[in-house]
Amino acid sequence: MPSFAQLSLLATVAFAALSAAAPVAPKRDLLALPAILTQLVADLTPVTDLLSSVVLSNATAEVVTPLAAQIESIIGAALTEVNALAGSPEDTVLATVDGVLSVTDAAALLAPVLTIVYSTLGSVLAVIDSTPAAAILQPIINDASAALGPLLTAISPLVNGLLAAVAPLVGPIVASLDNLGLGPVVGLLNSVL
Ligand SMILES: *[C@@H]1O[C@H](CO)[C@@H](O)[C@H](O)[C@H]1NC(C)=O
Repeated sequence: MPSFAQLSLLATVAFAALSAAAPVAPKRDLLALPAILTQLVADLTPVTDLLSSVVLSNATAEVVTPLAAQIESIIGAALTEVNALAGSPEDTVLATVDGVLSVTDAAALLAPVLTIVYSTLGSVLAVIDSTPAAAILQPIINDASAALGPLLTAISPLVNGLLAAVAPLVGPIVASLDNLGLGPVVGLLNSVL
């Protein structure tokens, strides 16, 4: 008959084995789309705020170029995170801490990304239009806005119907872009939306 000490030692060993087995090596932390989009808007906002503050006197390449470049790199970072979701089930893609986001709610998170970037770049274009820097800045602005193309293309296959749900939310912005010389962007948007 085992003594109490032996039993207790056995229990200790068994418990140690259990606790050692418990923490399974965590999978690589996959950021879901709602978190990516929320972070993207948070990252973009200070930069778009600055860009929107540009007036005729400071609508120069020195001021605008680094801000436009920042927009491009922020969108590029989000693209990397979205690409990591490729092939994940929709429930994983739309997961939040509270459950799974509906497609409509996800569209409501994606739409501001498009509207803040496009409306900001559109307003800068409107300001620089009459400046000597226009020729230099127009392609830079175009590059920044075009960065959203690959992001939308990567998001599109992840959630069935997401871009269709976004389209009506950004329609007015898209229409105004055409007038601002962002025709190529409009074409691209129309092709993915
Ligand atoms: C541009 O100039 C305006 C007016 O002086 C100022 O309010 C704004 O902060 C400036 N923006 C940048 C990005 O320098």
